[in-house]
Amino acid sequence: MGQLISPTGGLRWGANGVPYSIAFNDQYFCQDNGYVEAVHVCCRGNSLQERFSALDPVCPGTFTIMETGFGTGLDFCCARQLWEQCAPPSWNLHFVSLELYPLQKKDIARALALWPALAALGQELAAQYEPLPGLVRDWYFHDRRVRLTIVFDDAPAALKRIKAEDLAPQGADAWFLDGFAPSKNPAMWSDQVFEAMAVLSKPGTTLSTFTVAGFVRRGLEAQGFKVRKVPAHGKKNQMLTGVYHPDFVLEK
Ligand SMILES: C[S@@+](CC[C@H](N)C(=O)[O-])C[C@H]1O[C@@H](n2cnc3c(N)ncnc32)[C@H](O)[C@@H]1O
Repeated sequence: MGQLISPTGGLRWGANGVPYSIAFNDQYFCQDNGYVEAVHVCCRGNSLQERFSALDPVCPGTFTIMETGFGTGLDFCCARQLWEQCAPPSWNLHFVSLELYPLQKKDIARALALWPALAALGQELAAQYEPLPGLVRDWYFHDRRVRLTIVFDDAPAALKRIKAEDLAPQGADAWFLDGFAPSKNPAMWSDQVFEAMAVLSKPGTTLSTFTVAGFVRRGLEAQGFKVRKVPAHGKKNQMLTGVYHPDFVLEK
């Protein structure tokens, strides 16, 4: 098969360079073109280009993206790349993610080296990345205009810590949900996760995810996210986008 067993023990590299988790029997990103898929699902799914471009340069602030499952950092790099292209220089991006089984920096560097368009951002991330299991870490990029916070903990606990430790006081503007397929890792798609997401959201907070699993849709709706299926990238037909609308639960 042309696959190598990584010394991390939990990782296997496909012939096309895509990392697979042995423990979860799933890939970190799609085989066709993970970069194009990440841009489609995460950035287009949350209308980030339009929202970044519309930020008012004379009223500076922070745009916050939260993510479940940091993995290789691909989604972070896609968001950072778009931010640097579209957002006014007076604004900051805070990207808050969580990770229980962190990859090693060499694996992050190898995964992100797949796409020349992300090579520089991937190298910069891999050079700084140093996971600290159980702890919270912060890194700054792009003249401190981009801040990456990762909580190295189990998803429900990590989300509670973001609130309890006030790690992102302004709450989430957008969510990237990416914790392996729900059938392979239901713990990342639990009601506790959806509840904690609602606590960290505000009216108008958006979400996107590659999955359209029924229990994910229902779980998000029960917490006040209005979700809908939209066209996906590549071989997949559909993905989910959503908007937090707290009155939605009461209306149902
Ligand atoms: C599909 S990968 C995420 C891909 C990632 N967004 C990227 O850009 O590469 C899912 C990630 O969720 C992490 N994960 C799985 N279960 C978890 C849990 N219970 N709590 C926190 N992270 C978890 C895995 O270690 C993996 O890195």
